[in-house]
Amino acid sequence: MKHYQANLHDHELPSGKYQALILKPPKKIVLLIFALLLLTIIPFYYSSLSNSFFLRKTIPNPPSLPSSPSYDEEAHEELPTITNNLKCDIFSGEWIPNPEAPYYTNTTCWAIHEHQNCQKYGRPDSEFMKWKWKPDGCELPVFNPAQFLELLRGKSLAFVGDSVGRNQMQSLICLLSRVEYPIDVSYTKDEKYKRWKYTSYNFTMASFWTPHLIKSKEEDSHGPTNTGIFGLYLDEFDEAWTSQVEDFDYLIISGGHWFMRSMVFHENNKISGCHYCLLDNVPDLGMFYGYRKAFRTAFKAINSLKNYNGITYLRTFAPSHFENGMWNKGGNCVRTKPFRSNETQLEGASLEFYMIQLEEFRTAEKEGRKKGLKYRLLDTTQATLLRPDGHPSRYGHWPEENVTLYNDCVHWCLPGPIDTWGDFLLEMLKMEGIRSAEEKRYSRDRRMH
Ligand SMILES: *[C@@H]1O[C@H](CO)[C@@H](O)[C@H](O)[C@H]1NC(C)=O
Ligand SMILES: *[C@@H]1O[C@H](CO)[C@@H](O)[C@H](O)[C@H]1NC(C)=O
Ligand SMILES: *[C@@H]1O[C@H](CO)[C@@H](O)[C@H](O)[C@H]1NC(C)=O
Ligand SMILES: *[C@@H]1O[C@H](CO)[C@@H](O)[C@H](O)[C@H]1NC(C)=O
Repeated sequence: MKHYQANLHDHELPSGKYQALILKPPKKIVLLIFALLLLTIIPFYYSSLSNSFFLRKTIPNPPSLPSSPSYDEEAHEELPTITNNLKCDIFSGEWIPNPEAPYYTNTTCWAIHEHQNCQKYGRPDSEFMKWKWKPDGCELPVFNPAQFLELLRGKSLAFVGDSVGRNQMQSLICLLSRVEYPIDVSYTKDEKYKRWKYTSYNFTMASFWTPHLIKSKEEDSHGPTNTGIFGLYLDEFDEAWTSQVEDFDYLIISGGHWFMRSMVFHENNKISGCHYCLLDNVPDLGMFYGYRKAFRTAFKAINSLKNYNGITYLRTFAPSHFENGMWNKGGNCVRTKPFRSNETQLEGASLEFYMIQLEEFRTAEKEGRKKGLKYRLLDTTQATLLRPDGHPSRYGHWPEENVTLYNDCVHWCLPGPIDTWGDFLLEMLKMEGIRSAEEKRYSRDRRMH
């Protein structure tokens, strides 16, 4: 926390320029009077100058957006929010209207993936962009891009997972675009592994495509559902990411939807079972079997990295919202408003995915603690569950286009509710300092007993 305050301070008073400006008057007497005056007015100057600086610096070219949030207000509210939020569960609450949203559009942000550019493909309503998350018993500040970049100055953050993980990274790029766009510093042309650099902040953000989190490959492009059969090597790391993340300060790991497809499980170098593969002599162990082992192995990979000492966030399962059928049986998501928390609840496969994640997370956390590694739960599931209105549905492509996921009720329109995951992430980063200190004290207290 201390570190963070120091940072913010530096930012508000860069290089002491303002003091020089104020102390300029030439005549001695004037200077004396001025100095006396200064003592009383400096707080005013300080705050108004720093605020205007803050705004100038953070919005070099104010894009023509409906409105932008007032950074200064948020900066002043910070402390009470943080202390309160330490005791408050920011992940349980309701969606409330936010007329100021969205904070970017498809014309101000180039990072929106084609299939999530819902406005482009004619989505007629826009109310789904105008909500914010209100935790029960505290506030969750709307994302402040300057604050985020300041906190992550000199740091690196990687998304490890599938296209929903990429969806979140692109949301973050758009949220940050009011302050700065990153440059592409990818080490490969392969779009599955992107690396972005925010040069003014020396902040690096990357995404690693690994839909099953472990070694996997398509073994048959058809399979019983015509979506392929994937071979999952449940006890083998996916080196495409495990060999690359050691230097990162933060990892955000997530996964889920790919485990609904047909899979064949490999363990100890032989086939141990499958999920809906309809192959003779291969026992159907179900998708949850593979899901649990995949997370277990992925966490094991993280805990076994020699030089990694980052913080690992599990971004919990993001439920899809198909109604009146499965994704390939005419199901769709046509709602235009969020649910209230009493109108729906996590159940079925989504609940099972979520519970398995939590269990594997707790185990990994315990293991990690022995090595001084930190695990945090970016527990977006409940907030996300309440947003059936945020998916592209049929507005992820032109109507005549032949795409596999015609009605997309899995990914998220940008701008859209997934932007709120950035609010959660920033809040967690802000709380991290306090939390680490408390953990240290806790473990010290335990040693003393
Ligand atoms: C943005 O959305 C508008 C509709 O609101 C659409 O006409 C336009 O083509 C889109 N632009 C881009 C760059 O996607
Ligand atoms: C940028 O950050 C990296 C760590 O992510 C650090 O090793 C490097 O020295 C930093 N560069 C500058 C110019 O501060
Ligand atoms: C949910 O709660 C709201 C507000 O408390 C109430 O107006 C509504 O009737 C409730 N809905 C259900 C289905 O219980
Ligand atoms: C869509 O594509 C699939 C496979 O690529 C093909 O089997 C199907 O006939 C196509 N449908 C239409 C309407 O073109």
